[in-house]
Amino acid sequence: MIGLIFGPPGSGKGTQAAHVEREFKLSHLSTGDILRAEVARGTETGKEAERIMRAGDLVPDDLIIRIVQGILRDPNVSSEVLLDGFPRTLEQAKALDRMLAQEGHKVDFVIAFKVPEDVLIERLLHRAKVEGRADDTREAITERMHEYRHLTEKVLEHYRAAGVKLHEIDGLGAVDEVFERIQSALKGVR
Ligand code: AP5
Repeated sequence: MIGLIFGPPGSGKGTQAAHVEREFKLSHLSTGDILRAEVARGTETGKEAERIMRAGDLVPDDLIIRIVQGILRDPNVSSEVLLDGFPRTLEQAKALDRMLAQEGHKVDFVIAFKVPEDVLIERLLHRAKVEGRADDTREAITERMHEYRHLTEKVLEHYRAAGVKLHEIDGLGAVDEVFERIQSALKGVR
């Protein structure tokens, strides 16, 4: 089973993915978390990604595709996965489809959050005060929103056109309320 959790910056992907992972027994794989861990460890990948992430831009497709391919091919990694933050461009979506097709798999469902932009900005600026994430500055947030609108939104249309089950979820409200909406959307998945 392969699910995608999808939405603009601050829409609750990471927060809700933790609940979906527990409830639906899927391994949560966040490319943002993987890249931040590489930055923290000071690896070559981390050095390449750090400046790009800080500015709110997307890291190159080939870099992130290589990382995800390595993980999905790892026999120790479950084949029941919830991908968070990947794919983020059409190129990445096509690469993911090819990777999965080689193993006889496909994307089974997409959860896509809708949250107004002013609420997203408010959430991210609040997190900036509490956690100080390097890309939660006003400039980087503006750039992340721009990248989402110009490059990432197209991925939804790609999966819609492919006939993948697409669950559009209102991401406004308390975390538990949003999770209840996901649970009803995914009824029957497990
Ligand atoms: P990534 O880590 O994926 O960041 P993002 O998409 O900008 O998303 P966030 O983590 O900010 O938000 P989220 O939707 O997960 O929401 P969260 O639950 O955290 O990527 C970071 C960077 O890595 C990218 O910009 C890019 O440079 C690079 N990258 C990653 N993947 C890539 C790829 N595939 N290709 C190229 N580059 C890639 O919630 C946000 C805040 O809101 C939290 O403080 C949370 O507590 C709060 N919150 C959550 N839900 C609610 C709620 N219901 N009510 C109130 N507050 C809430």
